[in-house]
Amino acid sequence: MEIIDGKKISNQIKEEIKVEVDSLKALGKKIPHLAAVIVGEDGASLTYVGSKVRSCKQVGFNSTLVKLAESITENELLDEIYKLNNNDSIDGFIVQLPLPKHIDEQKILLAIDPNKDVDGFHPTNFGKMALNMRTFIPATPYGIIELIKRYGIETSGKHTVVIGRSHIVGRPISILMNNKGQGGDSTVTVVHSKTKNIEFYTKNADILVSALGIPEYVKEHMVKNNVVIIDVGITRVKDHKTEKGYVIKGDVDFDSVSKKASYITPVPGGVGPMTIAMLLKNTLLSVGMRS
Ligand code: GUN
Repeated sequence: MEIIDGKKISNQIKEEIKVEVDSLKALGKKIPHLAAVIVGEDGASLTYVGSKVRSCKQVGFNSTLVKLAESITENELLDEIYKLNNNDSIDGFIVQLPLPKHIDEQKILLAIDPNKDVDGFHPTNFGKMALNMRTFIPATPYGIIELIKRYGIETSGKHTVVIGRSHIVGRPISILMNNKGQGGDSTVTVVHSKTKNIEFYTKNADILVSALGIPEYVKEHMVKNNVVIIDVGITRVKDHKTEKGYVIKGDVDFDSVSKKASYITPVPGGVGPMTIAMLLKNTLLSVGMRS
């Protein structure tokens, strides 16, 4: 069994990005600039966005954090989006999800200029991804594909089972792993909350991607020997023994499942760190596409 070290790979990718930024600087070219919009005070979202901004500094990007009150109206938020769309100094931006309930998420995502949509959530970019065209790939699934490629894991002809059909992870990873090409060419089954007998499918998976959000849901008896496990779960579970008052748990019961796996991503330190690295990669791509 080999543990897939997302922390190490994400640091390598950030180093690669930094080298490119340094050469842009040396040539007197524009420095990539990423903006992040956050609405409200959700603890996890604030942590993620904080890490995104910190990582920009690490690789030499400029960054802007647009922090808005929970009470902002949909129209006011749309105005902020239009400002970012029209601000030429900004190469790409993201709107951190989830948004407060009174705001229509789809309306907001549709308002983002697809050329600056470094999350890859706009239907134009999502459609391009589904057609295997060059575009921004949502950062978490993009990170999974990158891990699979850098560890030399064979996907062609394999049976990949994806647990969950979210727009951010489950749906896009199912498309990417089924697309033609390296990291793809897989036969993909997507199981979800309405699937009968999920175990029937997971037991037949060569590669299992779990993006469900239920801590330690995947148990040893649900997988076959030599399975490749990609655990996308990051759930905060209360634990008063820790300083923060919680621990982060994945979807997979690591101790038992890792005994059967050929490769497995840990939580934390697996898929999580890759998300930010790939967001930075998308921002660099945006600079290339816009200049
Ligand atoms: N919320 C959870 N994951 C993500 C992500 O990748 N991008 C954005 N914008 N919000 C998220």
